[in-house]
Amino acid sequence: MSYRSIAIDGPAGAGKSTLARKLAEKLGFLYVDTGAIYRTVALAVLRAGTDPSDQAGVAPLLEELDMKMAYGADGVQRMYLAGEDVSEAIREHRVSGAASKVSAIPEVRAFLLDFQRKLAGEHDVVMDGRDIGTVVLPQADVKIFLTAAPEARARRRLLELEQRGQEAGFDAVLRDIRERDWQDEHRPIAPLKRADGAALLDTTQLNLEQSLEGLLSLVKEKIAL
Ligand code: DC
Repeated sequence: MSYRSIAIDGPAGAGKSTLARKLAEKLGFLYVDTGAIYRTVALAVLRAGTDPSDQAGVAPLLEELDMKMAYGADGVQRMYLAGEDVSEAIREHRVSGAASKVSAIPEVRAFLLDFQRKLAGEHDVVMDGRDIGTVVLPQADVKIFLTAAPEARARRRLLELEQRGQEAGFDAVLRDIRERDWQDEHRPIAPLKRADGAALLDTTQLNLEQSLEGLLSLVKEKIAL
């Protein structure tokens, strides 16, 4: 039997992971947060004391990388490095920047490509990231480019940080978002862009519920549920 796949791409802070997770829950599909996978590689690189932009230093680390992905009883995706649950650690600020850097390294992308395709070959998936519709699953049943204005994304990220008890200023968060957008959009390999045939969903003016409604109606246009 062939499995169904929904590819959701877009910039940081557009609400991708929350929405993709909720969509997967509604459809009974597996949710795969590919950003978490890049973040885990980035954490391993930082822990090895290697500069995340150093291609020659990072590539050999992949051979020894002991990374696992699993789903908890609550259905939440968790990431492991050498057996340690690093699901919280990969959310740290320094890891975000490092993930953006390691994700520009061709060896890292090639290494993770098989990992991601294998998951989609074994489950119905909602997969979110930056290059799912363009590179990982160009044949996905549904492709969506989810975005929002940088200011709206910065406000949401700020709220998220506050809820986690972390302090940050709006300007710094906005600067960070713009910097990561630039890095993700301008890297030579698998840059962030709207895939051919991807539907655009702009959530600047939408709350979570409205965004989920929008997503669901795009999905229903493409696959019978
Ligand atoms: O979505 P996120 O913030 O957790 O992603 C972390 C970084 O990983 C981001 O800067 C871009 C990169 N990434 C990628 O290049 N390709 C993906 N499919 C997912 C994430």
